[in-house]
Formats: sequence, C-alpha cells, structure tokens
Amino acid sequence: MSELEDIELDALMMVIHRRYGYDFSGYTRSCLLRALSKQLAVWKLQNISELIPLIIRSSLHFNCLMADLSMSVTGMFRNPEFYRALCDEVFPVLKSFPFFKIWHAGCSSGEEVYSLAILLQEAGLYERAIIYATDFNHRNLKVAKEGIYSRDSLSNYREAYSASGGNRELDDYFHFAYGRGVVKDELKSRITFAHHNLTCDGIFGEMEVILCRNVLIYFADTLKSRVLTLFGDSLYPGGFLCLGDKESLQKANTSQLFKAVNSNVKIFRKNWDEVHSLVDVPYH
Ligand SMILES: C[S@@+](CC[C@H](N)C(=O)[O-])C[C@H]1O[C@@H](n2cnc3c(N)ncnc32)[C@H](O)[C@@H]1O
Repeated sequence: MSELEDIELDALMMVIHRRYGYDFSGYTRSCLLRALSKQLAVWKLQNISELIPLIIRSSLHFNCLMADLSMSVTGMFRNPEFYRALCDEVFPVLKSFPFFKIWHAGCSSGEEVYSLAILLQEAGLYERAIIYATDFNHRNLKVAKEGIYSRDSLSNYREAYSASGGNRELDDYFHFAYGRGVVKDELKSRITFAHHNLTCDGIFGEMEVILCRNVLIYFADTLKSRVLTLFGDSLYPGGFLCLGDKESLQKANTSQLFKAVNSNVKIFRKNWDEVHSLVDVPYH
C-alpha cells in the first residue's frame, strides 16, 4: 500500500465515521482495501479518494459500499465439524440449565443462527434457549429476520447439515413457495434480532454461549482485544466462546481470559478457577 493510498484510506474512513457513524479504523487495512477495490471497479474509479464525494452526499452509494465493507459471506452449517463439537461438548452443559442465553454476534443474513436453532431443536434444547442475534449491518438483519433463502442455496446446505449431526430433513424447517424457502415460525420463536456494533456498543447481558465466527478475522489487534474483553464481560464464568476456524485469541492479550475446550474448532471457555469439568458447572 502506497503512502498516498494510506492517506486516502484514512480520509475515507473519517468521512464514513463522521457522516454515517461507522468506525472502520480498527479493521485490518488489507481487508478494507480488498472490500473497496470491488466497488472501485464497479464504479470505474481509479483512486480511493474518488469514493469520498460519492458517498458523502449519497446514502445509496454508501449502502453499496457498506455491503462490501461488512464482508457478509455466510452459509448454513459452515464447518460441520464445529457444529458436531458444539453438540458433543457444549450442549451437554446447556442441558443442565432450565434456561440459557446465547449471543450470536455478527450473524449476517441469519443462516448460521438458524443452523444453531435447528440443532438445539433436535437436541430437545430449543425451548430453553433465548437467542440474541446481532449485526451492525441493517440490511443483513432485515434478511435474517425474514429468513427467506433460495431453494438452490438451501439444497446446497443439505450435506453440511447431515455432516453437522442433523438427523431430519433440512427442508422440514422451511415452507417452500416460488423457488424460495421461508424459515418456519417455530424456528424463529426464540430468536431476537438486534442491531449491535462491536466497535462501540457495550455488553449484551450475561450469556452462557457467545458465537462470533468469521468476524474478528477482519479486526486488527486493538479492536480484537476490545471485542474479546467485551465477550469476556458478557459471559458467565465457565461460559463458552465460539470463534471461526481461522481466528484465535493469540496476540489479543486476552488469551488468559479463556481456556480452550476444542482448539481445532475454536471453542473456548471463560476462565473460572473452579471450572474442572465440562458438565454440571453452576454458573449462577
Ligand atoms: C463474514 S460474516 C460472518 C457471518 C457468520 N458469523 C458466519 O460465520 O457465517 C461477518 C459479519 O460480521 C458483521 N460485522 C462486521 N463488523 C461488525 C461490527 N463492527 N459489529 C457487528 N457486526 C459486524 C458483518 O456485517 C457480517 O455480517
């Protein structure tokens, strides 16, 4: 990255922050550049600074840019081995509680949270769950709340659903019409979707589980530390933190807050001196 590009990027981030309230200064420069290059090509622009006059006056243009800056790639049952481990190593602990709260941070368009809801239902735990699914992108949240996905994309998830331990037909959870599947109401019943920005908003309550997968990968070390501290503060002692397979606690100065439960699939547990076993740990 040239010095000029560096200055242009700072200027653009400052404009986005002041005009629209989103602070991207803590994201890695490389991921911001990747996201911006797509929109530069679409709008046939040469330099990052040319984006400034476009977005400062037009929220429509900003929304297009925001879609790329959010890096919203997602899917149902991504990394089936993670879901297997969740069922085998986390659900047995949740079974010991009459109710439990789960925070799904960076839920994108909802596929991941519905995957979790399906597995909780099949484990007989869904009625005990209170799930908060948050994202900072309003468009993603709208899609997530609606829970409408193309039939083609849903059929692509069947294999991953079985590999994750699913024991019914994935189609059972959807109503189909006009080539699209709509998530059935009972699967939405325990989920609350809400806006939450990890760069500036506070703790979200005391949770038994936090899932934040494939989000921290875009954050530089300082922001990553802030968010991991926020997660530590939002979990009961012994609560579980689930990250994406390319994410880690290293370099964030927060690794002492958590211990690994399954480091292959990045499931951690908030440290608590008296936590010795994975089952029967009283949080409350
Ligand atoms: C790559 S997607 C991951 C989606 C899902 N967790 C998964 O693994 O399939 C990243 C998501 O994080 C959200 N995100 C990025 N920065 C955020 C922030 N500061 N606060 C809240 N959500 C954020 C994006 O809008 C996007 O939906």
